[in-house]
Amino acid sequence: MFRKSSGKVLVTGAAGFIGSEFVRQAVARGYSVVVVDKLTYAGDLARLKSVADDVAFYKVDIADGKKLEEVFKKEKPRAVVHFAAESHVDRSILDDTEFIKTNIVGTQALVNVARKAGVEKFVHLSTDEVYGEIERGKFKEAFPLKPRSPYSASKASADLLVQAAAHTFDFPAVIVRPSNNYGPWQYPEKFIPVIIYKALNYQPVPVYAQGLNVREWLHISDCAAAILKVLEQGKVGDIYNIGSGDERKNIDLVRIILKMLGRPETLISFVKDRLGHDWRYALDSRKIREDLAWSPKIGVEQGMARTVAWYCEHLPWVKGKVVALERYWKKVYRSA
Ligand SMILES: NC(=O)c1ccc[n+]([C@@H]2O[C@H](COP(=O)([O-])OP(=O)(O)OC[C@H]3O[C@@H](n4cnc5c(N)ncnc54)[C@H](O)[C@@H]3O)[C@@H](O)[C@H]2O)c1
Repeated sequence: MFRKSSGKVLVTGAAGFIGSEFVRQAVARGYSVVVVDKLTYAGDLARLKSVADDVAFYKVDIADGKKLEEVFKKEKPRAVVHFAAESHVDRSILDDTEFIKTNIVGTQALVNVARKAGVEKFVHLSTDEVYGEIERGKFKEAFPLKPRSPYSASKASADLLVQAAAHTFDFPAVIVRPSNNYGPWQYPEKFIPVIIYKALNYQPVPVYAQGLNVREWLHISDCAAAILKVLEQGKVGDIYNIGSGDERKNIDLVRIILKMLGRPETLISFVKDRLGHDWRYALDSRKIREDLAWSPKIGVEQGMARTVAWYCEHLPWVKGKVVALERYWKKVYRSA
């Protein structure tokens, strides 16, 4: 059992969407937290503002083993929770370079440093996408990895490296595989914030193909609580799926959000499908529910209403990101 008295927890990628929620919950629980983040376009310390005085922050690339070693020597963390990753599928299709560097090379560098430092626990953030797609039924933890995008292939590679370290060196790793997260602070290139922002501004709301792809939606607050449980009670060597069980077609979710914002469905604009778009993900999450007594607390309608309200209250933050994104895509298309 890992607890706050066991020592410091080093969290990578904590300036990102899920990592920052995890840190907020860990600090509230009394943990001493060290944050390592490269602050890529997806990282933003604004997400950690409410806990800025409670965490030690290091702007470090996880692929830089030397710098990581210095942080470990100085802070002596007893556990690591590894969120840092390139996380956007569309970007991985366009250019996989950073995905290989961070998700594979970076994970291995971090594992090596954490192993040599003798940490008690290493929680690795994987994803439901490593299983590939599934038409019927649900992915169990023992299912084979069949990733289908450069993003999910890089995440699956990281899983295998973490498992190899566990097998070869008795590295105390636990892997978690959450389903699609939503909630406050998500970068507005991802599905839910894109819909909200476009709808708010009466702009066409882009939906891939006919919007029939199915995802299992999990509020970040529930996801972070599950990861905290795994840090404290998860069995070393095990894998835990983390899903809400609440599956929705993309188009149905878009309709819910438009209704919440009082916007017409005529804003929906079907666009050319993502290359290799996975049809459906669905997790069998009985293991974490039964072994660790975790269950999600926030249903999709309630969570979506809170999320929509959060984006309405934080429009300047969202607008700033959207402007930066538009600049990025213009540059990409100009050089194509
Ligand atoms: N968002 C989801 O729905 C979801 C679902 C399942 C699993 N995951 C996994 O959870 C983790 C967190 O996802 P997220 O949505 O919060 O991601 P995010 O893109 O919001 O945040 C990623 C964070 O990692 C940092 N980072 C990137 N490269 C780095 C590097 N080389 N060194 C140090 N820091 C670096 C970024 O600056 C950012 O703060 C990822 O591993 C992702 O694969 C996400």
